[in-house]
Amino acid sequence: MKYLKIIGKNKISGEVIISGAKNAALPLIACTILAKNEISIGNLPDVVDINTFLKLIDKLGGTFQKNEGRVTINPSTINKTTATYDIVKTMRASILVLGPILARFGYCEVSLPGGCAIGQRPVDLHLKALEAMGAKIVINHGYIEASAPDGLKGAKIVFDKVTVGGTENTIMAAALANGETTIINAAKEPEIVQLCEVLANSGVKIEGIGSSKLIIQGSNKELLEIKDFDVIPDRIEAGTYMCAAAITNEKLKISKVIPLHLESIISKLEEMNFQVLQDEDSVTILPTDEIKPVNIVTTEYPGFPTDMQAQFMALATQANGVSTIDERLFENRFMHVSELLRLGADIHVNGNTATINGKANTLKGSDVMATDLRASSALVLAALVAQGETNIHRIYHLDRGYEDLEGKLTKIGAEVKRFTE
Ligand code: EPZ
Repeated sequence: MKYLKIIGKNKISGEVIISGAKNAALPLIACTILAKNEISIGNLPDVVDINTFLKLIDKLGGTFQKNEGRVTINPSTINKTTATYDIVKTMRASILVLGPILARFGYCEVSLPGGCAIGQRPVDLHLKALEAMGAKIVINHGYIEASAPDGLKGAKIVFDKVTVGGTENTIMAAALANGETTIINAAKEPEIVQLCEVLANSGVKIEGIGSSKLIIQGSNKELLEIKDFDVIPDRIEAGTYMCAAAITNEKLKISKVIPLHLESIISKLEEMNFQVLQDEDSVTILPTDEIKPVNIVTTEYPGFPTDMQAQFMALATQANGVSTIDERLFENRFMHVSELLRLGADIHVNGNTATINGKANTLKGSDVMATDLRASSALVLAALVAQGETNIHRIYHLDRGYEDLEGKLTKIGAEVKRFTE
């Protein structure tokens, strides 16, 4: 197994170029299932989850060619309708083929994703939405079996809870359904906006893009002609490097971003007394004379993202005072706490709230274990300011979502090396 060795306290400076967003690319690859033509997708992040999703497209009978940040997918040959356990168990996002495969073929089976390191993560809302559109769904031998032999029908769907994946599955299903689908309480994340824009550019009529009410006119099973596009920048990767600047208290430029997508992150850094300069497609974090504590509540976009909570917890260990983080989206997303404690952090968890007693220069290098993608990046950040050497084990989590992490960190002056144990 691979691990990362990071020597802390190196000065960092310069510029980090941000890759395409993993969480935008996954549903966008899924939406190619709705098309009859070949589609070329640019700014594709080179991370394990994307490769796993492309493998799933291949298993469904589609073909693709990938090189240097671009993939060309030919979905016209897709002829299978099952996402099998071996793929779903390694990547929950496989559930995103359910809506498009069902809409195109009238039948789909997806291995039921189990719980994961950050919580139970049920998919009941995805299924309820598809049932409202006329699908019959049963769970059989660990598989979701969905059928709609006469095609899906437009419906009014009110989500009881905002769900990113549930909204994406419903949008894709609605694009090929018969008639109009209204989604109320839809997620509004930039990744959803891009999915809607790609479909709208391909002729699907969608009203309310970027709002919590979407109205989608379906094509009644006529496959789409999807135009080529580039994936939007990864706001969570950007936020992670912004925290790298903040935790080391150095100046760093983060480029190829959409600053609008980073508003809640910028605002929390400002509350912590950092100045953040914004350009059209970059942000620059400036060092501060005192890192102030912060109170964070995770919520849906445009609020503070749960995917940035662990990184801010690492940062809060360096603040001068007591910070709090309230995790409202997932019930078990504090797995990084025990690992940060191993590095010497002073953190207490009570229910969904973590209280971080910050004090600069308290972290000391140690062996730690990555538990999920963002928890791992928090450990990397903490290691950048810890005294001495930190070995981060189980880094396959990091490889799922951060492109060339060592390369990007080394370029800005960090001392990071990958080893096999
Ligand atoms: C997406 O997961 C992201 N994944 C996650 O990023 C992110 O943390 C999450 O949205 C929240 O922003 C991708 O985009 C591939 P949800 P998703 O459905 O779609 C509950 C990362 O680190 N819920 O919005 O699975 C659910 O349990 C990852 O990159 C139901 O109860 O999240 C959670 O409490 C991890 N029933 C809440 O809703 C459902 O049917 C939000 O989940 C669906 C969700």
